[in-house]
Amino acid sequence: MKIGIIGSGAMGSGIAQVAAQAGHDVVVFDQQKSALDRAENALKSTFAKLVEKGKISEQDSASIFGRVAFRETIDSLSSCGLVIEAIVENLDVKKSVFQSLEKLVSPDCILATNTSSLSVTAIAAACSKPERFIGIHFFNPAPLMPLVEIIPALQTNAELASTCANLMRAWGKVPVVCKDTPGFIVNRVARPYYSEALRIYDEGIADMATIDSAMRNQGFRMGPFELMDMIGHDVNYTVTESVFAAMYFDPRFRPSITQKKLVEANWLGRKAGRGFYNYAEGAERPNPSSDVELSTAISNRILAMLINEAYDAHYLGVASAEDIDLAMTKGVNYPKGLISWGKEIGLDVIVERMNVLQLQYGEDRYRVSAGIHKA
Ligand code: NAI
Repeated sequence: MKIGIIGSGAMGSGIAQVAAQAGHDVVVFDQQKSALDRAENALKSTFAKLVEKGKISEQDSASIFGRVAFRETIDSLSSCGLVIEAIVENLDVKKSVFQSLEKLVSPDCILATNTSSLSVTAIAAACSKPERFIGIHFFNPAPLMPLVEIIPALQTNAELASTCANLMRAWGKVPVVCKDTPGFIVNRVARPYYSEALRIYDEGIADMATIDSAMRNQGFRMGPFELMDMIGHDVNYTVTESVFAAMYFDPRFRPSITQKKLVEANWLGRKAGRGFYNYAEGAERPNPSSDVELSTAISNRILAMLINEAYDAHYLGVASAEDIDLAMTKGVNYPKGLISWGKEIGLDVIVERMNVLQLQYGEDRYRVSAGIHKA
């Protein structure tokens, strides 16, 4: 089956690489010649590095690279069996691209979007055959991150999710199926990792180095502040804002003014040389406190919020418990799945921690999920 990719930016070029490595002929279409050239050069140098490291042979590299065509017109996608769109995150632009595409491709061509925050159902609604439309959400960088979220729209054919999940397995990925809800699995369940850390920081309970260290001590590869600096505050803040609005302003998802200020200052994180931390050469990194009790209190609070969110997502039918745990371990490298971690700690302990927070703050933000009570 020939695979079409629309958009040759960070995601499109990564997905093209994955599909070509899995043996498909791939056509990448972008409206900007410069973006196509950039993607082609980047792919060339990626394969050169893989050959240099002995990961693939020169011959394989040449044949994989030879399977990818870079094209400036959408017509070049006409003979594809699956087209994955990875263009700008704008609902109207995505809708109009799919309307043009539908006129070209065969009636059984699968249409997919890589959107991370838009409604898959809303994009599908623009298509004349929405039943063959689905979300296939890769993580950045697509060739390295194993997780793929498969998101059927309300209109999607019942079998399409498992067809796409099988295809992703054949591409060497770990697919999880989730309901078309704001943030899907990862971008919803991970929100407290950032927002509760910011809340603890805003309240002056601990500084960012101490909060980061507390979470690293729990097995997370990066603390919340260093991770937000790496993701970029523009990206992370936008996701938080969009999930907050899409969840009808549920206080659990409330963004932080502190992060908004960083965006306003253009202190976007590592890529800007400045975020929560200063990345200038020779800049000193603050030391975490050595107070063990404080570290435990911080990680207990953030973990309780994360576990509560995971149980809530499961309770509301976003995904199976297994897929929620897979998503967090394979998509954002959490040391353990949150559903099983909750059981390991004891759900009564999580309820107790949440109740203490709710009593202390009197906020709905800290309500225990019905999913925990029912588990
Ligand atoms: P990007 O900005 O790197 O690339 C987008 C590309 O789409 C550009 O090359 C642009 O020229 C092209 N494009 C824009 N409008 C077009 C149109 N009408 N027709 C053809 N080409 C068009 O964006 P990126 O980061 O690759 O994101 C793409 C999509 O993937 C977005 O929907 C984003 O939300 C999603 N996504 C992004 C992730 C990330 O970490 N960057 C992770 C997962 C999903």
